[in-house]
Amino acid sequence: MANNSILRCVDIVKNFKSESGDGDLNILRGVNLDIGPSQIIAIIGSSGSGKSTLLHILGGLDRPTSGNVFWHNESIYRHKADKLAELRNENVGFVFQFHHLLPEFTALENVMMPALIKGTRYPEAEKRATLLLERFGLEERLNHRPSQLSGGEQQRVSMARALTNNPSIILADEPTGNLDEKNTDTILNLLFQLRDEEKVSIVLITHEKEISGKCDTIYALQNGILEVSAA
Ligand SMILES: Nc1ncnc2c1ncn2[C@@H]1O[C@H](COP(=O)(O)OP(=O)(O)O)[C@@H](O)[C@H]1O
Ligand SMILES: [Mg+2]
Repeated sequence: MANNSILRCVDIVKNFKSESGDGDLNILRGVNLDIGPSQIIAIIGSSGSGKSTLLHILGGLDRPTSGNVFWHNESIYRHKADKLAELRNENVGFVFQFHHLLPEFTALENVMMPALIKGTRYPEAEKRATLLLERFGLEERLNHRPSQLSGGEQQRVSMARALTNNPSIILADEPTGNLDEKNTDTILNLLFQLRDEEKVSIVLITHEKEISGKCDTIYALQNGILEVSAA
C-alpha cells in the first residue's frame, strides 16, 4: 500500500440474488486495486462482467457484500451516509455513459451544482463553472439546457461538472460509449489533459482497445477477478 494512495479497494466481493432465487450471482470475487496520484487506469471486460458494479462500489454509491474501500487511506464505511455523500461530492467526480445532467437546468447551472451543494458561494461557483465550460469549448453554450446540446457537448458538460469541486479522482463509466469517433477523441484528449493539468487520477471503463493503450495500467475484469491485462 502506497502512503499517497488516492483510492484503494481490498477484497471486494459482490453477490446479487439471482432472479430465480436459487443461490447468488457472484459478480465480484475479491477485487483489489490501488490508485495513486495522477494515475490513469483502464478497466476492460465484457458486458455484464461487473465493471459498473465495481465503479459504483469504488465511488461509494453501492456497498459490497464484503471488502473495504479507502479514499486517501481512510475507509469510507466509517462514515454515515450523509457524511459519505458529502465526501463523495468533494473527492470523486463521476462521468457516466449517459450524461445524467438535470434537464431543467442550464449547462452552467448543472456544472455549478456540486459547488453549491458543498456550500461554495454563488459568484465563486459561477466563476469556476464558467472557466471549466470555457476550457471545454462550451463558452457559447453556458445557458443552453441539456436537450439543446449535442451528445458530445452534453458529455463535456458532464466532465466539467465532475471537476467542479476539484476532486482527487474521476470515475468514468464508458464515457464515450454513446459518441462518434470525433467526439470520442475530444473527450479522451480532455481526460488525458486533465490528468496532466489538474493532477487528477482517473478510472476509465472502456471497450476501446486504442484508448486503454494510452493508460498507465490496463486491468481486465473477468470471472469476478481484476487482473493486469497484457492487452
Ligand atoms: N442491482 C442488481 N441486482 C441484480 N443483479 C445485478 C444488479 N446490478 C447488476 N447486476 C448484474 O451484475 C452483473 C454485472 O453488471 P454490471 O456491473 O452492470 O456489468 P458491466 O458494467 O460490466 O456491463 C450483470 O449480470 C447484472 O445483471
Ligand atoms: Mg456497465
